[in-house]
Amino acid sequence: MTRVMVILFLFTVYSQAMVQQLSREFLIDLANKFGTPLYVYHAEKIKEQYERLLKAFKGSGARFFYAGKALTNINVLKYIREIGCQVDCSSINEVLLALRAGFTPDQILYTSSNIAFAEIEAAQGYGVSINIDSISNLEKFGKKFGHSYPVGIRLRPNIMAGGNLKISTGHQDSKFGIPLEQIDQVVRVMKDTRVCVNALHIHTGSEIKDVEVFAKGIEVLFDIAGNFPDLEIIDLGGGFKVAYREGEAVTDIERLGQKVAEEFDMFEKKTGKRLKVWFEPGKFLVSEAGYFITRVNVLKESATAVFAGVDSGLNHFIRPMFYGAYHIIENLSNPHGPLRTYNVVGNICETDTFAENRPLPQINEGDLLMFRNAGAYGFEMSSNYNARFKPAEVLVRGGEGYLIRRRDVFEDLLRNQLEVL
Ligand code: LLP
Repeated sequence: MTRVMVILFLFTVYSQAMVQQLSREFLIDLANKFGTPLYVYHAEKIKEQYERLLKAFKGSGARFFYAGKALTNINVLKYIREIGCQVDCSSINEVLLALRAGFTPDQILYTSSNIAFAEIEAAQGYGVSINIDSISNLEKFGKKFGHSYPVGIRLRPNIMAGGNLKISTGHQDSKFGIPLEQIDQVVRVMKDTRVCVNALHIHTGSEIKDVEVFAKGIEVLFDIAGNFPDLEIIDLGGGFKVAYREGEAVTDIERLGQKVAEEFDMFEKKTGKRLKVWFEPGKFLVSEAGYFITRVNVLKESATAVFAGVDSGLNHFIRPMFYGAYHIIENLSNPHGPLRTYNVVGNICETDTFAENRPLPQINEGDLLMFRNAGAYGFEMSSNYNARFKPAEVLVRGGEGYLIRRRDVFEDLLRNQLEVL
């Protein structure tokens, strides 16, 4: 082999290697430097996930709009833009954040639920793509903009999907979207107002491991596609499942990518129309890139459990309490200690259990406990409950940790309060 070939070979091997998880030592250093509780995000892991999607969906040329709601730190948004991904926004403020992060309007999608028409008008003003999720707002939009500004509509396909009922959004009792059985009314609105519907959108839930659920969604949308003469885009939402436990079933995105390509090719053969396909992944892009580090304040033994009480709670990381979500916990300080069983709990004034009866390497007061899969809906769902400070956030890129949000300080708690007494 020539030298050039060797270099090329090494480059290929290197570029295909999986991004390593952040090491225990590195995470400990960050916790010591920036304090706890601390969110840490690994940029290269986000990029790896995005590249996996591009590869898996090459056949259909799908476009991906990162569901910003999972994690909106402006640096994460900028990074997402830098790697070439688009963004989906669930509120007008997310649109403003996306613009601030440097996304151009054609890279921004706005998919909101049950909002005032004024917010849709504002989104239109910014020139972003819009998915409308009610007949009344579609009618208002049509009356105001007629055929001049193409929009998507969010439909409720009456498909039960997702990891739990709270994050299941496409079933027949769900508040989201326009119910499929009301397509006639949509057609009437299109006729009356000449509104131009160029996209059909569904998002049936989060943590959908079954490729068939997406296939069913495609089938439902293809069935009604004939009602929409201006149709260009099928938007299948987010919901790709990642593993929260070792070895857990995940969405087979390679198989899904293949299925999507086949279905869209077939549709083109049948109708002569090539539709674009869009997705809005949140968890898939950022969940595994995130680590949440806490420190153990106290250990308490009782007849039924040993409690490890950490310096955080449902105010910082609510997924375990709100959804009963399982997150792998690692004792960074004593990884090889003998296994003992713990209830890992928070410091909030109500029951906030992170994990029950969890075998973990022996915990001592002062140890650092790290939660995996904390990138998506972690910091983003945090609050100042109990007047506690929100955690700091760090972005690791090129092996360096950058503070991207300082921890709250006391003034932050009073920031918007008006002392009238
Ligand atoms: N598109 C739309 C319209 C959505 O409503 C969502 C999530 C997504 C995309 C992204 O879904 P993902 O790929 O992240 O599953 N807080 C919950 C998840 C709520 C998801 C809400 N909508 C959790 O922590 O499990």
